[in-house]
Amino acid sequence: MSAIRFDYTNVLADAVGEERGLTDAMLAAMAGRSRTALHDVLARRTEDLRWLDLPYQTDVLDRILAYADSVRGRFQNVAVLGIGGSALGNTALQTALNSPYHNISPPADTPRLFVLDNIDPDLVGEFLDHVDPSTTLFNVISKSGGTAETMSQFLLFRQAVIDRIGEEAAREHIVVTTDEKNGVLREIVGREGYVSFIVPDGVGGRFSVLSPVGLVSSALVGIDVQGLVKGAAAMDERCRNPELFENPALLHAAVQTLLHTERDCPMAVCFSYSHRLRDLADWYAQLLAESIGKKHSRSGEIVHRGPTPIRAVGVTDQHSQVQLYTEGPFDKWFTLLAVDEPDHVVTIPSAYEDLEGVAYLGGRTLKELFQAERDGTRIALTEAGRPNATLSMNKVNAHTIGQAMFLFELSVAIMGEHYDVDAFDQPGVEAGKIAAYALMGRTGFEARRAEIEASGGSAPRVV
Ligand code: PA5
Repeated sequence: MSAIRFDYTNVLADAVGEERGLTDAMLAAMAGRSRTALHDVLARRTEDLRWLDLPYQTDVLDRILAYADSVRGRFQNVAVLGIGGSALGNTALQTALNSPYHNISPPADTPRLFVLDNIDPDLVGEFLDHVDPSTTLFNVISKSGGTAETMSQFLLFRQAVIDRIGEEAAREHIVVTTDEKNGVLREIVGREGYVSFIVPDGVGGRFSVLSPVGLVSSALVGIDVQGLVKGAAAMDERCRNPELFENPALLHAAVQTLLHTERDCPMAVCFSYSHRLRDLADWYAQLLAESIGKKHSRSGEIVHRGPTPIRAVGVTDQHSQVQLYTEGPFDKWFTLLAVDEPDHVVTIPSAYEDLEGVAYLGGRTLKELFQAERDGTRIALTEAGRPNATLSMNKVNAHTIGQAMFLFELSVAIMGEHYDVDAFDQPGVEAGKIAAYALMGRTGFEARRAEIEASGGSAPRVV
């Protein structure tokens, strides 16, 4: 299995100039900090950072595969009901590892996959109008087991199935992944006897993709979940190396930190030159934003830290964002996601050979054109003094995606040490959840509701 590669040539001053790029000395000065950060993060592997151990949970994997086997051929659709860390990984895996047209013509005995990570009535209402609940398995995912969006969807779709096939049969249309003991969803599992999986302690939402949170839906739609965790384990092995210049997660974290703090690049663009990796970039956006975007340092000082993740897709965004990226403010750095070997060879037919405007395309492959566009963008960014790195994989498969996900997770954990923030909490997200509970009149949140009402807010100014 081939290893993914992190090429950081073009973040260096030699490529983009002294003012914008990093020097070898700057990186070398991070070596000691990186070694300590890695040691401190890995030391928590069996304590509060149990996500580091997810690649080795073979019993859980066996149970997931047995469950997927037991329902094979029974459902035409799987609908994930979850949000944030309980949804983004599912989408990233589906779009990376299954056909973009999977839902139009899924392989035999394999359901379609829908990830309903929004409660917009027009999304949910359309789903109800178009998808038959009696042929659908609802995969309800919530670490806390109480998130309003997910629970409202659960109530809604549970009822829709009951209305079609009755209460008893409906139970087999629901599979739950939640905390082992806490939360109303676990209580409901106990009452209803739903098949359920556990989000282990020490596995936060955005670090949970390699737990049943991401693996149940993947196994159901035929993704090679064993390959995925083997890829993650391979990256874990590789990243135990404390040498900065040999460890891709340490290097990625060091580059992010230095470009932000020493070169004024608060924007981190993950630029996927693979249509299949566009949602991996989306998943990474949440991982980076929620983990590092914090008001307080670990000692409680107010710091308001955090890079801003941006997702872009090549070649599409060459015709949308790249003008800004090459000529706008020097506030961004770029991680290009690149794939050496697409699965398909598509050759452009020759025609109009007397017209140079199209003649040069005839007989060339889309891979050649795609990679020329990617390399062209990389050259343009570099010549314009924009630091850019490339994360490359030979092919997109379960093993390389497992490697990439683990690399990003570990890198972000290391960034938490460098930025001196708690990478594993999300008080800003919780604040929004609490305000929503209060506004919805949930018992226990009366005081917060009174506070919101008393504050009155500013007088509306609307035209
Ligand atoms: O990463 C996180 O912790 C969040 O994005 C959560 O995943 C999200 O808020 C959903 O929470 P829960 O899984 O508890 O329903």
